Amino acid sequence: MSGTARTGQAEPTGGDTESERSVDQSGSGSPDTQSKEVFPDQDRRFEFCGHVLKITQQLSKFAIPAIVWQSAIILCRYFEKERIMFLGQKVIELGSGTGIVGILAILLGGEVTLTDKPEVLGQIECNVARNMSPSMTPRPKVAALSWGEDEGQFPRNYDIILGSDIVYRPRSFLLLLKTLLHLSDRRTVIYLSNIMSEKMGAVEFYATLLPEHFHCELVYQTPNNEVNIFRLTRKSSTY
Ligand SMILES: C[S@@+](CC[C@H](N)C(=O)[O-])C[C@H]1O[C@@H](n2cnc3c(N)ncnc32)[C@H](O)[C@@H]1O
Repeated sequence: MSGTARTGQAEPTGGDTESERSVDQSGSGSPDTQSKEVFPDQDRRFEFCGHVLKITQQLSKFAIPAIVWQSAIILCRYFEKERIMFLGQKVIELGSGTGIVGILAILLGGEVTLTDKPEVLGQIECNVARNMSPSMTPRPKVAALSWGEDEGQFPRNYDIILGSDIVYRPRSFLLLLKTLLHLSDRRTVIYLSNIMSEKMGAVEFYATLLPEHFHCELVYQTPNNEVNIFRLTRKSSTY
């Protein structure tokens, strides 16, 4: 994930009507939850699949998790274009950040669990609440899932696993792989959308690490080849 590459870029497939902020979005050198500078929270609106999504970016609290990343918008647009079905599906999102992808899955009828590190859950809960009517069922879940630590507390039978821009930190790659393997079986379909940065290790993760355990199909690539969406299924149920 290269912040300078992203800052000020036009979003290739759109969805967001506001102009980009002139802030370094990388958070490089900072922990995920600390900005070097304090920015005010920001409300954004997106439209996908006939739903308006209201998302607050809690920039006063976080750096990386507070941003709706380009890969998330592109994944939502992909679901819209391909009419991916979530109705009645048991879904888990990893590294939800603002929650935008998981919230779209909820609005499309999925039984969704949104996850991230514990300190990010407040932002996700706030955004889920903003986009749900009180009568909406099934109720979504928001839960802490730090990769390599917490997956044992979750079931292994999700229909769909989602992740956007969660492959950017090489030291967490094996932990993320362990989590994906725990949560999936041979029926599970995994959609991962990512900036394809060699520097941040994404190219190697998708070309080498994942294919040991998963069939990896590139289902979408932005015209500038910057963001890829992969559809994964397990090669074997055991690992
Ligand atoms: C680049 S942000 C992407 C956020 C959101 N998915 C999007 O695309 O807008 C990466 C997210 O992964 C989460 N994350 C990073 N390392 C993690 C870990 N080890 N366990 C769980 N979540 C993690 C961060 O907290 C952050 O919300």
